[in-house]
Amino acid sequence: MNRCGIFDSGIGGISVAREILRAKLFNKIIYFGDTARVPYGNKNESTIIRYSLEALEFLKNFNIDFLVVACNSASSVAIDELRKEASFPVVGVIEAGVRAVEKRAKRNDNILLIGTKRTIASNKYQSLLKKRGFNNIMAIPTPLLVPLVEEEIYEGRLVDDVFELYFNGINKDEIDVIILGCTHYPFLIPSFKKHFKKATLIHSGQAIVEMLEDEYGLVKRDNSTIELFASEGVDEFRKKALRWLFQS
Ligand code: DGL
Repeated sequence: MNRCGIFDSGIGGISVAREILRAKLFNKIIYFGDTARVPYGNKNESTIIRYSLEALEFLKNFNIDFLVVACNSASSVAIDELRKEASFPVVGVIEAGVRAVEKRAKRNDNILLIGTKRTIASNKYQSLLKKRGFNNIMAIPTPLLVPLVEEEIYEGRLVDDVFELYFNGINKDEIDVIILGCTHYPFLIPSFKKHFKKATLIHSGQAIVEMLEDEYGLVKRDNSTIELFASEGVDEFRKKALRWLFQS
């Protein structure tokens, strides 16, 4: 039996869990969404570290063999602290995302990184990308996209207006790669494709699956199930998560 714990600040990490579940890399996934304290992305570093360690403690009750930190904000500041407290591998979406960029992009590509305020301010993506020779990086915090996704608004006028607010100074045709550096953003992929016609999109969930397969040698199992937990509004959370997990 191999068991994976996944946590996120809320429901957004379901975009990561969905990919892992579809790839059937674990017999069992235990997902925790910290719905009582979402969003993490506007909070300071020490608060996010404390919340992340609490999520780890909760997930340890299920005898997990792996921890996936689905939240970009937590991955940006809490990975080292989590690794100190875990006796199993802890993988975060930022390392995975940078690896995915390396596989898909050229060194002189124009990369647009978007995420929460904390993820962008942490400089984690930017410094890892620069170490690997990617220097054309534009980083923009885009926190308003999170509540839109929470409300299941993925396309249309409101999304277009928020895109206009954040991206009006950008020549969209010159962007080669967009790092969707927040668990919520994969739900907006149709809108990203509409606005950024030629960009390759980096999706944290797909990036994590690739990393688990390539670096940890995980392979497809016959069966994979998921159990869902949240710190508040559990019934509503489960309903929404199941819709997101099994929507096409
Ligand atoms: N899950 C968070 C992330 O990926 C986005 C929502 C939040 O701010 O907590 O950064």
